[in-house]
Amino acid sequence: MLFITLEGPDGSGKTSQIPLLAGAIRAAGYDLVVTREPGGTPIGDEVRQVIMDLKHKGQMHPTTEILLFQASRAQLVNEVIRPALAAGKVVLCDRYADSTLAYQGYGHQTDLAALRQIVQFATGGLTPDLTLLLDIDAEAGLRRRAGDSGQWNRMDAYQVEFHRRVRAGYHALAAAEPARWVTIHADRDPAAIQADLQQVVLDRLISR
Ligand code: TMP
Repeated sequence: MLFITLEGPDGSGKTSQIPLLAGAIRAAGYDLVVTREPGGTPIGDEVRQVIMDLKHKGQMHPTTEILLFQASRAQLVNEVIRPALAAGKVVLCDRYADSTLAYQGYGHQTDLAALRQIVQFATGGLTPDLTLLLDIDAEAGLRRRAGDSGQWNRMDAYQVEFHRRVRAGYHALAAAEPARWVTIHADRDPAAIQADLQQVVLDRLISR
């Protein structure tokens, strides 16, 4: 069992890389569960809709947003991730607790120590074994998202300054736990990014 998470600023290309990475992990013979946050369960997907809905723009209090992300996460951990790991599977999750620290902590500048406590409560302390950071400049990431018609949502509408703080937050989180994080430069050809992702993940799986 191995719990792998993918993190990155908006527009880092995470979501389009995951199906290919999942295919490579399965082709190497591993039993894999792929999931995402917010969402990944029927309850979590409903919570995701509330968080993302543009009609709530400017209305949702930051504390509400924080707690909704944790509600989705608690459901995912207990319904999907822990059972999969207990069954000896590999879990690949598109965003996890580090997104709360990067977006709500560094982005919205909410107290990090308080956030860590709330995250601990939501996850029961479940931490990824490996976290892949798809690192991209805030403007480049937002341009990618804006060009992707239909993908623009309430979270993207925050100011670019917010997204710069998110990226800097990811750098700080990765620097604090170098054994868990691997940073991959994401403003490149998608095939090159995929090759790096596969190499890191398959090496880690083989060397366990
Ligand atoms: P995504 O599914 O396209 O990555 O969108 C999820 C958005 O929600 C993205 O802008 C990051 C944000 N987010 C947080 O702000 N906090 C969190 O804890 C999580 C999981 C996501």
